[in-house]
Amino acid sequence: MAEAVRAPELNELRGRKSSKWSTYPSDVLPLPVAEMDFPIAEPIKQALHDMVNRSDTGYLGPMPELFEAFANFADTRWGWKVDPTHIRTATDAGVAVVEVIRTLLNPGEKLLVSSPVYENFWTWPVEVKATLIDVPLKQDGENYWLDLDAIEREYRAGVRVHLLCYPHNPVGVIFSKEALISLASLARKYGVVIISDEIHGPLVYKGRDFLPFMALSDDAREVCVAISGTGKAFNLAGLKCALIITGSAELKKRINTMPEAVSYRTSIFGAVAATAAFSQSIDWLDGVIATLEENRVLVRNLIDSKIPVIKYREPDFSYLAWLDVSALDLGDDPAKYLLERGKVAFKGGYMYGPKHRQYIRFNFGTSPEIITEAFDRFLKAL
Ligand SMILES: Cc1ncc(COP(=O)(O)O)c(C=O)c1O
Repeated sequence: MAEAVRAPELNELRGRKSSKWSTYPSDVLPLPVAEMDFPIAEPIKQALHDMVNRSDTGYLGPMPELFEAFANFADTRWGWKVDPTHIRTATDAGVAVVEVIRTLLNPGEKLLVSSPVYENFWTWPVEVKATLIDVPLKQDGENYWLDLDAIEREYRAGVRVHLLCYPHNPVGVIFSKEALISLASLARKYGVVIISDEIHGPLVYKGRDFLPFMALSDDAREVCVAISGTGKAFNLAGLKCALIITGSAELKKRINTMPEAVSYRTSIFGAVAATAAFSQSIDWLDGVIATLEENRVLVRNLIDSKIPVIKYREPDFSYLAWLDVSALDLGDDPAKYLLERGKVAFKGGYMYGPKHRQYIRFNFGTSPEIITEAFDRFLKAL
C-alpha cells in the first residue's frame, strides 16, 4: 500500500511564494487556489536538483522520454493506448486549451461549455474570440449530469468545439461512461471536436469508474483532443508543462499546424519534472490519493458535526469540495462574507456559473489541522 503523503505545518506553508500562500494577509487561512500543500515527490525533487546543479536552464528541446513516460502511465493506469508521437507540449493547460481552440476555430464560431464549470472555461475561449454557448449541467441536489438533448440541439445549431471538463471541476462528478459514449457519437455525427480537459484525471480515487475520454470508444478517439499534465496531480503548476494528446491521424494533423513555438514555450523544468512524475512518482501519487480520501471524509464529518445545513457530495477525485451554503443565508457572495467575517478564503460559486452563487469551493489538499481550522473559522463567521 502506498504511504500517505502529509502536508507540512501552517508556519512552513506561510513561507511559500505560490499564489495560494502569498495572495492574502497572514491572518487569513487561504483555501481558494487549486494547489496542494503536500511536499512534491522525491524523484521530481531529485530531477530538478540535478538540472540546477548542472545549470541546465536553457530552452526545451526534443524530449521523447516525456511522451513515452506519459504513454506508459496512461496504459498502466487506465489501459489507454496513447501513441507517443500524438503528444505535444504546451506551457500549461490554459495555454494548451487556448492554442487548440485557436487552431480549430475561427473567431466568432461557437464553442460549448457546461456550467457550473472551472472559471477559466469562461475566459480561455474568449481570448481567441470564440462565441460561448452554455448548456448547463442537469442537476438534482448534489448530483450532476450532461444534458445530452440540449447538447445535441446546440451541436446541430453549429457548435464546432466542445470544451469538456472531465472529471469535472468543481462539481466533483465523473460522468457516466454511457453518457460520454453517446456524447462522442453525437460529436462525430455533427463534426464537433471535444477538447477534454483531464488535468484532474490522475487524481481519481481508487475504485471509481474513470477512463480517459479517448479510451471510451472509437468515436471518442476520433473526435477528441485531450489535455493532461502534472499541474494538479503532482502539484507542478508553477513548472509550466502540459500535454496535448490526439487519437486520430486527422486531428493530429490539424493540431500539428500549430506554431512550433507552442511546444518550446514549455519550460524545460516542467518537462523534466513531468517525466520523473509519470515514470517514477506513482507511489507518491497513490499516497496523495489515500490522504485525499481521508480528507474528503473529514470534510463530511466536520460538516455533519459543525454546520450540517451545508450540502456536500463527497467528490470522486481530487481535492475540491463543492459546498452548497444556500441554507446559511450569507448574502449574495458567501465567499466574500466568510473572508470578511471568518478570515478564511474560498472560491465563490459565482465564478463557475450564473446559477451557483450560493456555493463555495473548498480546497482540502492540505492537513487535517488546516481543514479543521477552516471549519472553525467558518462557524465563527456565522
Ligand atoms: C479543470 C482545470 N483545468 C485547468 C486548470 C489549470 O491548469 P494550468 O495551471 O495548467 O493552466 C485547472 C486548475 O485548477 C483546472 O481545475
